[in-house]
Amino acid sequence: MTDIEAAPSRGMLKVLVFAASLRAESLNQKLAVLAARAAGAGGATVDLASMRDFDVPSYDGDVETGRGFPAGAQALEQRLRANDAFIIAAPEYNGSMPGLLKNLIDWTSRFRPQPFDGRHGLLVSASPSMAGGNRGLWSLRVPFEHLGARIYPDMFSLAAAHKALVDGEIADGTLRARFEKTILAFLSLAEAAKHYPCIRRAWVEFLGETPGTPADRVDPVEAIPA
Ligand SMILES: Cc1cc2nc3c(=O)[nH]c(=O)nc-3n(C[C@H](O)[C@H](O)[C@H](O)COP(=O)(O)O)c2cc1C
Repeated sequence: MTDIEAAPSRGMLKVLVFAASLRAESLNQKLAVLAARAAGAGGATVDLASMRDFDVPSYDGDVETGRGFPAGAQALEQRLRANDAFIIAAPEYNGSMPGLLKNLIDWTSRFRPQPFDGRHGLLVSASPSMAGGNRGLWSLRVPFEHLGARIYPDMFSLAAAHKALVDGEIADGTLRARFEKTILAFLSLAEAAKHYPCIRRAWVEFLGETPGTPADRVDPVEAIPA
């Protein structure tokens, strides 16, 4: 047992886990299941979701104004708020993040208070390629960091995942241990931040922008936790 595994129970820490793929045989879904299992074994309360829970049409400002938010965005908003942290297993599409995930982030970013702000996130990926989809995760950091999410510095990308995953497990023991240790290290940080929040401020999208312009997107002050 490592030092990290020996940490006290994280029963109070709630973690949302999902894969940004709709495919039945998704490699990222398999990795999400392993992440959920490692987080549960590490003492967190896990909310394992499916991308189908968050299905949304293409973002349309007129739909938002006229009809409000689609059910999928409402579901993600509620589950983000119900959890302290999130883990996303995201495929890499054309050297970047999948469009369906960016579209979901865009819809969900429109809620106020903006629900990604201040939440801790861990990004993982699986791909048949030798880079494991890691470029997609770098691109995914940008919208999340823009939205004030605290994205964990390490990212786990499983290369040649169609071979590395055997019967739903990471077959190589060293790789498997690295993956599980990354999950547990992330939980330790998220748990510490839950009890000792370091940054308290209302989210302002463009900090130096002239206040009051149409570009001004700001969370209400009451969103700051006491
Ligand atoms: C439109 C599209 C673009 C892709 N681009 C990349 C890519 O840039 N890099 C990569 O490693 N794999 C790429 N792939 C392959 C995916 O990594 C592979 O299909 C993977 O299994 C998708 O994730 P999933 O199994 O979780 O659905 C692409 C696949 C699709 C459908």
